[in-house]
Amino acid sequence: MSLLELDGVKVHFPVKKGILFDRTVGHVYAVDGISLSVEAGQTYGLVGESGCGKTTLGRAVLRLVDVTDGRVVLDGTDVAQLPEKEMRSFRRRLQMVFQDPLGSLNPRQNIESILSEGMAAHGIGGNREERREKIKEILAKVGLPGNALSRYPHEFSGGQRQRIGIARALVLEPDLIICDEPVSALDVSIQAQVVNLLEELQKSMGLTYLVIAHDLAVVRHISDVIGVMYLGSLVEEAPSDALYEEPRHPYTRALMSAVPVPDPEVEDRRERILLLGDLPSPANPPAGCRFHTRCPWKQDTRCATERPELRDLGGGHRVACHFAAEIASGEITRTSGEVVPAAHEGSGGSGGSEASGAPRASGASGGGAAKGSSSGERASEAPAGT
Ligand SMILES: Nc1ncnc2c1ncn2[C@@H]1O[C@H](COP(=O)(O)OP(=O)(O)OP(=O)(O)O)[C@@H](O)[C@H]1O
Ligand code: SF4
Ligand SMILES: [Mg+2]
Repeated sequence: MSLLELDGVKVHFPVKKGILFDRTVGHVYAVDGISLSVEAGQTYGLVGESGCGKTTLGRAVLRLVDVTDGRVVLDGTDVAQLPEKEMRSFRRRLQMVFQDPLGSLNPRQNIESILSEGMAAHGIGGNREERREKIKEILAKVGLPGNALSRYPHEFSGGQRQRIGIARALVLEPDLIICDEPVSALDVSIQAQVVNLLEELQKSMGLTYLVIAHDLAVVRHISDVIGVMYLGSLVEEAPSDALYEEPRHPYTRALMSAVPVPDPEVEDRRERILLLGDLPSPANPPAGCRFHTRCPWKQDTRCATERPELRDLGGGHRVACHFAAEIASGEITRTSGEVVPAAHEGSGGSGGSEASGAPRASGASGGGAAKGSSSGERASEAPAGT
């Protein structure tokens, strides 16, 4: 059994209209039927462009939003079925690290107070002294000095504040940590240090992460398995290396084509797939395959009418495309869109547009090495006190 199992999870937000009657006139289909598993001790990377529902899915796991349908099961317990009182103590097992470290830390509390608050609420540490010792131990693990205890959030740099955010999650000894864009608010030079810290902590403490990011490079560096979201759905999921070596869904192929390759010869030959059109609204998603309005491989049969299921094509590589096999074999070729040499990116073309807000191609590791891969650069080691 996996540590976390999501089964057909949907989160639909009602769209209300009217002052007196507050009528529901539609729904935002923020998350629309996601099934995935996160194994203990591993990292699941969830990637997708802005508004595709990543944060909502994370919030659904923590039960911070109501799940419209489906099941969220942590370690055998259906989170949605827990009575509110039990959920409060259960929440310790699920912690979140936020994008904006400053915004998520109370400026009027010192670090000891911020970190001990949750511990006291969940009965961790018998007394203040015990809690202080535990906090010191965790602060050392995240690379912060012991004297950080009496200091306030504004006295730290952005990278240090994210370390505090990570420490706040760790002191509660969670089963799963959801990191929502954990480095995107940080300087690029600091991003790699925080990503490496997460990885080191995972190794030394056996942590399990669900890492949400729009930056493919961040997710690649840290993930065992990667899921690609588009308009509330998972369109592809695979072990990290397999996804980068052979993206099978047209959307993933377009995203990957934007990732710079460390090998200069390969980089010179890299071609960029440009998607046509804008991202549709999640309040009015296209029928059939959600991606058919922008898919360069769209076929007249099925694509606009039949929603593709996520199918396992072997080795845990799951793809939601009716024609994934035919596209891979070359039997089906592009019917629209545009491919340009990556070197000529931004130099025009005839109307092809990049996905607005699409996941960034580079970042902490500059499109660098996949987990366990020998190619590409590794982010530098995190020095104490970034
Ligand atoms: N409480 C809410 N009420 C109504 N709509 C919401 C609510 N929360 C999110 N949404 C909508 O749901 C969709 C998904 O939002 P979400 O924040 O999950 O996206 P995201 O993938 O995390 O995007 P980003 O990368 O920008 O953080 C968006 O269209 C958003 O406007
Ligand atoms: S099902 Fe059709 S529209 Fe959807 S990704 Fe596959 S080829 Fe494109
Ligand atoms: Mg988000």
